[in-house]
Amino acid sequence: MEKAVCARAPAKVNLHLRVFGRRKDGFHSLRSIFQAISLADELTVRSLKQPERIEIDGVFDCPPEKTTIYQGIVAFREATGIQTGVSVKVGKTIPAGAGLGGGSSDAAALLLSLDSLFATRLSLRDLAGLGARVGSDVPFFLYGGAAIVEGRGELIRPLAARRDYALVLVFPGFPMGTAEAFRLLDRERPDDGGEADLPASVLESAYPLPPGDWPFANSFEAPVAGIHPEIALWLERLRAAGALFARMSGSGSTLFGVFGGAAEAEQAVGVLRKNAEPDILVCTAFPLAHGISLL
Ligand code: C5P
Repeated sequence: MEKAVCARAPAKVNLHLRVFGRRKDGFHSLRSIFQAISLADELTVRSLKQPERIEIDGVFDCPPEKTTIYQGIVAFREATGIQTGVSVKVGKTIPAGAGLGGGSSDAAALLLSLDSLFATRLSLRDLAGLGARVGSDVPFFLYGGAAIVEGRGELIRPLAARRDYALVLVFPGFPMGTAEAFRLLDRERPDDGGEADLPASVLESAYPLPPGDWPFANSFEAPVAGIHPEIALWLERLRAAGALFARMSGSGSTLFGVFGGAAEAEQAVGVLRKNAEPDILVCTAFPLAHGISLL
């Protein structure tokens, strides 16, 4: 019998992101605060009668076989030996190359969906191990909410997620590739930059503070702004529109502003849209206290 599972895959913002030097394995260690948000993709995952078949339907910036969805199916099959055919339909809302973790969240939602569809009862730890093979940010999305994330992305310390603020997201109309952003960072900052290094304990105690008092930063912001002046321009516009805190998310290109509540955020969206071209996404989003939801 054909069965289906639907899942909502939320985006994230990095309230803080400190990147350290490149490691021997080619990845960088980092220390970050990840916050899941209400902007989300939707997945419908079905089993198919034809064994081994993989169907992927959605609008992606790469061929279906290169998507994190496809890689997630391959990782799940290798781990469980289940070769049943699978179809995945993705309703994409999270822009690609945005620093919002869309591809990683899709992969995490896929793994949870497959685990439910085939009743494999994999532990969160096993799922996170599979997810880390697909992308560094996948393990976080299996936990969701808010967390301090360290290592390459696999060390997760959940925080009591707050929901007393609203976000305005600005996708400035051009994508930023993750690998490209890391290369740019290495070039611009060969000796690790001497940036402030906030220990995890400081991040944890700063998170509950009023957003205007957050000491958070993003290592990618200056190098990416160096080649894309729109970054600094939109951060300035967000602050001028009343953001208590404004930063770039992840390796870009999305900028986010933090506001005291939904009304303030909506008002800022109205102001910011006046400057926006059609390919620039300006929207309100809200922090989530949880992760992926199977619907
Ligand atoms: O794991 P993910 O697919 O997100 O990584 C894409 C690329 O970003 C990697 O190939 C690597 O070049 C870079 N990266 C890194 N350090 C990390 C995460 C990603 O250097 N912690």
